[in-house]
Amino acid sequence: MVFQYYSFCILIFLNFTFGDYVQLPGNTDIKDLKLQTGYLNANENGTQRMFYFLLEARDLPVDEAPLIIWFNGGPGCSSLGAFFEEFGPLYVNFEGTTLFENPHSWYHKANILFLESPIGVGFSYDAEDANVTKADDDGIALQNFNAVVDFFERKHQSFINHNFFIAAESYGGVYGPMLSALVAESIAKKEFPNNNFKGLMIGNGFMNVKLSTNTMILWSAYHARTSPDEWDAVKKHCKTPGASDVDSYDFMQFLKTTNKMDYQVDNKTECGRLIEPLLGQYTDDWIGYDFFNYYHDCYTNFSLSNATDPVKEALKLAPRRGISALWNKYSTDDKMSYSCWADVATPKYLNLEEVQKALNLDSEWLERKEKWKVCNMPIYDQYVMTHQDMTPFFTKIFNNYTGPAFRVLIYNGDIDTACNYLADGYFTVKYQPWFYSDMKVMAGFYMRYEGANELGSKLSIDVATVKGAGHFVPLDRPGPSYQMVNNFLFAQPEKLANYSLPI
Ligand SMILES: *[C@@H]1O[C@H](CO)[C@@H](O)[C@H](O)[C@H]1NC(C)=O
Ligand SMILES: *[C@@H]1O[C@H](CO)[C@@H](O)[C@H](O)[C@H]1NC(C)=O
Ligand SMILES: *[C@@H]1O[C@H](CO)[C@@H](O)[C@H](O)[C@H]1NC(C)=O
Ligand SMILES: *[C@@H]1O[C@H](CO)[C@@H](O)[C@H](O)[C@H]1NC(C)=O
Ligand SMILES: *[C@@H]1O[C@H](CO)[C@@H](O)[C@H](O)[C@H]1NC(C)=O
Ligand SMILES: *[C@@H]1O[C@H](CO)[C@@H](O)[C@H](O)[C@H]1NC(C)=O
Ligand SMILES: *[C@@H]1O[C@H](CO)[C@@H](O)[C@H](O)[C@H]1NC(C)=O
Repeated sequence: MVFQYYSFCILIFLNFTFGDYVQLPGNTDIKDLKLQTGYLNANENGTQRMFYFLLEARDLPVDEAPLIIWFNGGPGCSSLGAFFEEFGPLYVNFEGTTLFENPHSWYHKANILFLESPIGVGFSYDAEDANVTKADDDGIALQNFNAVVDFFERKHQSFINHNFFIAAESYGGVYGPMLSALVAESIAKKEFPNNNFKGLMIGNGFMNVKLSTNTMILWSAYHARTSPDEWDAVKKHCKTPGASDVDSYDFMQFLKTTNKMDYQVDNKTECGRLIEPLLGQYTDDWIGYDFFNYYHDCYTNFSLSNATDPVKEALKLAPRRGISALWNKYSTDDKMSYSCWADVATPKYLNLEEVQKALNLDSEWLERKEKWKVCNMPIYDQYVMTHQDMTPFFTKIFNNYTGPAFRVLIYNGDIDTACNYLADGYFTVKYQPWFYSDMKVMAGFYMRYEGANELGSKLSIDVATVKGAGHFVPLDRPGPSYQMVNNFLFAQPEKLANYSLPI
C-alpha cells in the first residue's frame, strides 16, 4: 500500500516536471530528450490512426527551430527506423533493452516529426480493419496529408507558424513529392493551416522507375561487376532503338514486373540473361552483398541465436557508452556493424512492455496483441506502384508554390544499389565537390539548378552525392549527412545552401 502511494506521488512529480515528454526506457545517455508520441487522424472520421514521434530540437528553442516531417519508404516500412537506426538521437544496443547516443542526430537544430505511414505500419492502425495489408500511392498521399493537417490544426497548434520541410527516403521518393504537391496546392488555395512550407528533401529516392532500373545496370558495369567481354556482349545484345550508346539503352525492355516497381529479367532473351547479375537484388540474408551498401559486409549471421562471433561477443561485453565512444566522426568506421543487427535490436526494444507503456499507444492497438515490425511485409508484397515518375508532382509543386523561395535537396549515398545515384542525378548540370571536416575531407558532389516560377517564387534543386554512403545515408555517413542537412535547412532564401560549412 505504502509503495503504491509512493509511486503515485512520483508519477505526479514526473508529470509536473517533464510535462508530456516521453521517458524512453533504457535511455541514460540523454537526460532532457523532449520527445512526444501519439496519434494523428489520417482520415476525416478519425478511424485511421497514424502514430508519430515528435522530437524537439536540442540546441535551439522549439519555436526557433524548423520542423522536418519525415517518412521512411518501403513501401510499408516504419519511420521509427530512421529514429533508431539513422539520424535519431538514440540507437538501440545489441541486446535490445537499452539505448545509446548517436552524436550526429539531425535534431540538434531541428524539430522532427516521424510519421509511421501508411496506416498498418508500426503502431499505426485502422480501427475498422484489424489487418491492413493494402495501400497505394494516392491513398498514402491522402493519409499523409490528412495527418499533417491534423498535426498543425489540432494536435500541435504551437507549430502552426513554423517553417517546415518535408523529407523522405527510398520509396519515400514517392511519398515526399506527392504529399508536397498536395500541400503546395492547398496553400495556394489558402486552405492549409501552415503557409511556411520551405522545402523538400529526398534521400536515395525511388522517383523514376525507368531511370532507376536502367542506371542500375550501368552502375554495376562501372563498379567492376562485369568483365569487359561481358559488357561488350551487353552492348551488342541489349541495344534498343534510338539509343546512341549503352548509357541510353532501355534495359527495361528485357525486364518484367508484377508490381511496377521491382523488375526481374526476362531470361528468355539473351540480354535478360546477360544483365541478370547486374540488377540490384535484395536478399534477406547476407549471401552475396549488401543490397543497401555495396561495399559493406556483415561479419556474421546474426539470426543464428547461438552464433559465436568476435563482434557479437565484443558487443555483449562493451559497456553501453563504449560503443558510441568507438565512433570516430572523421573516419569511415562502421559503428560496430550497427546496420547488420539494428533491424533485430530495434523491434526487440519497441516490443518491450515497458517501452510500449511509455509510448502512449492506443489501447486498441495494444489489445490486438500485435508485434511492432520494421516493415509491414504484406503491404509491400501486395503493393502495385501507380506513379512511376515523380516529374508531374515536382511540376505541380513548382507551379503552385506561392512562398518566397522553395528549396529541394536530392541526396544519394553513392554506393547504394537499391536506389542508385545515377538515376536521381541525371537531369542536372555541373558537378562540384562539397567538403566535410573543416574543408579537409571531400564528402561528395553536388549540382544545382535555380529558377523561378510564374508567381515569382524562387526555386532551387540541389542534387548531392554522399561519398561512401549506401541507401541509409545518415547511418553510413552520420557526420557529413548532418552537416549537409543542417546547411540545407538554414540557408537563407537569397543565399543557397553551402554544404561545406562546418556546423
Ligand atoms: C470512416 O472513413 C472511412 C474512409 O476513410 C470509411 O471507409 C468508413 O466507413 C468510415 N467509418 C465511419 C464509422 O464513418
Ligand atoms: C492478414 O492478411 C494477410 C494477407 O492478406 C494474411 O496472410 C494474414 O494471415 C492475415 N493476418 C491475420 C491476423 O488475419
Ligand atoms: C528462367 O527463370 C525461371 C524462373 O525464375 C527459371 O525457372 C528458369 O530456369 C530460368 N531459365 C533459364 C534459361 O535460366
Ligand atoms: C543465417 O541463419 C538463418 C537462420 O538459421 C539461415 O536461414 C540463413 O541461411 C543463414 N544465412 C547465412 C548466410 O548463413
Ligand atoms: C547451436 O545450437 C544448436 C542446437 O542447440 C546446435 O545443434 C548447434 O551445433 C549450435 N551451433 C553452434 C555454432 O554452436
Ligand atoms: C497547380 O499546379 C497544377 C499542375 O501544374 C496546375 O494545373 C494548377 O493550375 C496549379 N494551381 C494553382 C492554384 O496554382
Ligand atoms: C562554403 O563554405 C566553405 C567553408 O566555410 C568556404 O570555404 C567556401 O568559400 C564557402 N563557399 C561559398 C560559395 O560561399
